[in-house]
Amino acid sequence: MKGKAVLAFSGGLDTSVVIKYLQEKHNLEVITVTVDVGQEDNLKKISAKAKSLGVLKHYNIDARQEFVDSFIFPAIKANALYQKKYCLATALARPLIAQKVVEVAEKENASALAHGCTGKGNDQVRFDVTYRSGSNLPIIAPIRDLNLTRDVELKYAQKHNIPIDTTAKRFSIDQNLWGRAIEGGDMEDAFSEPPDDAFIWVKTKNLPENPQYLEIKFENGIPVAVDGKRMKSIELIKYINKKAGANGVGIVDHIEDRVVGIKSREVYETPGATCIIEAHTDLEKMVLTKHELKFKAMVDAEWSWLAYSGLWQDPLKSDLDMFINATQKRVSGTVKLVQLSIRLLEKDSLSYGDFNQQKLINY
Ligand code: ARG
Repeated sequence: MKGKAVLAFSGGLDTSVVIKYLQEKHNLEVITVTVDVGQEDNLKKISAKAKSLGVLKHYNIDARQEFVDSFIFPAIKANALYQKKYCLATALARPLIAQKVVEVAEKENASALAHGCTGKGNDQVRFDVTYRSGSNLPIIAPIRDLNLTRDVELKYAQKHNIPIDTTAKRFSIDQNLWGRAIEGGDMEDAFSEPPDDAFIWVKTKNLPENPQYLEIKFENGIPVAVDGKRMKSIELIKYINKKAGANGVGIVDHIEDRVVGIKSREVYETPGATCIIEAHTDLEKMVLTKHELKFKAMVDAEWSWLAYSGLWQDPLKSDLDMFINATQKRVSGTVKLVQLSIRLLEKDSLSYGDFNQQKLINY
């Protein structure tokens, strides 16, 4: 009997190539796993694609609630912003996805774990670390290990009848309930301004004239109600994503230090995360002592670094969680945020660098 490999499958080019590669080169049956973390992809289509590529079995796992409870909520309590900016949307989801792959591998008695990450990003580290901490099975990562370029992958796809999405991809996008990351393409040049149509959650034009308010109620560090309405957690985050996004809030544009030592320009739209973390940080200022606040700022930064690196199993992570949870017992209350529409001055006549400076001066 052939061995089985379990692969985290997104439906994109990389992971589709990996299916064929595992079948052809490793002579393995492939079981694919797609984890729903609120990315709003068409899961039926992804499952049909996996099946058309000859997988033995495909799993769609709805992990949205677990994503919120076990990853987003701890991040809120830690005011988690990597390098003071990035709310860790992709970083928080990867260990959960990898964990689900390990669970399926155990259940299916598999002989290998696989992923389709490249050798340049953080995700390879997050997958490897989580796979390794939950299983002793060999890890197969062909895109990274063979250093496959997009062109080589496209040729391989053609040869193996892998359906290719021909719409030109200007950026690489990763999306889940906590945020949307847009990277690559023209935006690799840190001086180039992201085009308006790169954003789908945050409105960049014709913003409301009047100040908009958003009230977030927290209990023990966790958001439980918005604008006076108690909501379930997934619904609450979606509500803030929508409302803050419609008010132009939540674009983050910064230079990020990747785990592997590369600096990269990263653009995100994270309206919900931006508002919730801002409100949570402010509420802590009301209820924690100045000594707690000073110390917690260091703990929060360290927590964010560990989460960015996928080090959820490091004992330091749970040590920090214990301290953070102890502080959250008093973090209950309501925070009111207000968004004033801001007119940007002569945006067209300025280069992006100048434009940033203008923003600093005029805000
Ligand atoms: N730099 C971020 C991270 O490592 C986001 C990566 C998003 N990935 C993407 N393909 N756009 O967490």
